[in-house]
Amino acid sequence: MCGIVGYIGTGAVQNILLNGLKNLEYRGYDSAGLALNDNAGIKVYKASGKLNNLVDLLSHKNNTANTFKGIGHIRWATHGKPTVENAHPHLSNDEKIVLVHNGIIENYQELKDKLQAKGYTFHSKTDTETAVLLIEDEYKQTKNLEQAVINAVKQLKGAFAFCIMHQDEPDKIIAVRNHAPLILGQGHSGNFIASDIPALIGQASQSIYLDDRELAIVTQNNITIKTFEGAVKIKPMTLIDMKAESISRRGYPHFMLKEIMEQPDIMRNLLSSSLSAKDAPITFSGLDADKLFSHVTKLEIIACGTSLNAARVAKALFERLCRLPVEVTAASEYIYKTNLTDENTLCIGISQSGETADTITAVRQAKEAGAKVLVLTNRANSSIIRYADASLPLMAGIEISVAATKSYTAQLMVLYLLAVMLAEKSNKITPAYAETIKNTLLTLPALTEQVLDLSEQAKALAAKYKNATDFIYMARGINLATAAEGALKLKEISYINAVDYAAGELKHGPIALLDENMPVLAVLPKDSVVFSKVLSNCEEAKARRAPLIALTTESAVLPENIFDDIIRLPDAPELVTPMLCAPFLQLFAYETACALGREVDQPRNLAKSVTVE
Ligand code: M6R
Repeated sequence: MCGIVGYIGTGAVQNILLNGLKNLEYRGYDSAGLALNDNAGIKVYKASGKLNNLVDLLSHKNNTANTFKGIGHIRWATHGKPTVENAHPHLSNDEKIVLVHNGIIENYQELKDKLQAKGYTFHSKTDTETAVLLIEDEYKQTKNLEQAVINAVKQLKGAFAFCIMHQDEPDKIIAVRNHAPLILGQGHSGNFIASDIPALIGQASQSIYLDDRELAIVTQNNITIKTFEGAVKIKPMTLIDMKAESISRRGYPHFMLKEIMEQPDIMRNLLSSSLSAKDAPITFSGLDADKLFSHVTKLEIIACGTSLNAARVAKALFERLCRLPVEVTAASEYIYKTNLTDENTLCIGISQSGETADTITAVRQAKEAGAKVLVLTNRANSSIIRYADASLPLMAGIEISVAATKSYTAQLMVLYLLAVMLAEKSNKITPAYAETIKNTLLTLPALTEQVLDLSEQAKALAAKYKNATDFIYMARGINLATAAEGALKLKEISYINAVDYAAGELKHGPIALLDENMPVLAVLPKDSVVFSKVLSNCEEAKARRAPLIALTTESAVLPENIFDDIIRLPDAPELVTPMLCAPFLQLFAYETACALGREVDQPRNLAKSVTVE
């Protein structure tokens, strides 16, 4: 959700910044811009749309010589349309200060009114321009960029990460962080600033994560970190261990397909680090489970989007295996509900990125209400970790495609392991049953490989249904979340309006939608306790002429002439079928999006890290 970069040094500034932005493109692609400082001063270049438009614009300019620093931005629009005027960097009225921003300034209107009353002119509809003009106003008094920035940011409310340059102070870039991620990098040619590590790969060898209410004065040879109160902070550098290979498509046409195909290996890694054999105990390195779970009488799971669907599967698991009451809440709704969180609550926050603003806010509130907090995230140094009593890594490797795939099954695997571990520890399941489930978990990587072998069937299905304008996904029980996740995947990358329903609810209203133009995909694995009931709902749908797809398992016996298409996944106990259904539904969504010529990895209007509430 917006990405910012900065660089000061002897390297090729423009290329370094453009490469950095390329690796942050998953954060937004509504517009892009650079501000470059050379001996003649600061020049700003902006283009609406994808980064390539900026690259084209810059290919007609000659900026490579004498440029010694610069800042850059890719935008996911919040305030103001994705136009050139609203693209960052934004300039002060005297055109000496330039700034890029990730986040939202909540009190921008009030500040804007004051600045306008003082005679400042706004050229954009963004909240960001308020910040640069406020710094300009402060600079008039202080004549010192660092002090002007400190004075200005103390007046801002909301989330912000900034890179700021002043023409009259060419030796530095100032970086600021408050509730939006920002990392400093050190390399042989100079110093770097970025919203996320991929922008630093191949350039910086070491990094420092800024904390909230901190700023850094970044020069070519030095980085000084201070709090908003002016106290100097000494922070150690850590080695950047992410490899360039991890952010490449490795021959796949899209990151999404590569990430779908990585799932069996990720499952293997998760299993091998927590479960050595079916009769071995489940352990998580560094997690003191006894301490974390002691006195816990209820679970509260908080997440958004795909992570929220993983939470829904987890609810079924923990309730069934651990006999613990579980409440699942969309993070964006957490603040509105009557808060029953207390010190006997274990709050589990799930976030692939660890930067989702809604989830971070909700988790922070749960902690303030006395809950213990366990976080599941794919990004070890992400912001959400700061509010956690304990965290578990998803070990999925960086996920670039905006549509979450491998992180979902990684979340599920960790949740399965956690639920079985807790059920065993609290004697809620017999040792024999625990062994059976563990054995099943150990088979999942190989079973998932069999699911991924069905990609030709996914392609054929996509070719047949790609022109549908609407789609219904239905299921019962633990696979309700599967239907939700399948529908979410389809709508976000193909733009087909896919809606998930509890199969039994169809007859209470949505069945009115059914006709020959409304395909229905039913999730009905054989071993399911709800199999026959979903089958009845399928009959009801067919009676209304809906094209009907069964996502079922090999040995399921289905009535003849009901289903237009049948996809058979390998047989598995019902409890783990969400793990096997998801990869097929990911493939179906992927193939549909490809068949429609969509931008698979960068679907319209979306961004990977949603860092605004
Ligand atoms: O990084 P998070 O897991 O916190 O992200 C939550 C959602 O924004 C994310 O899952 C989103 O729904 C994906 N685009 C789904 O594919």
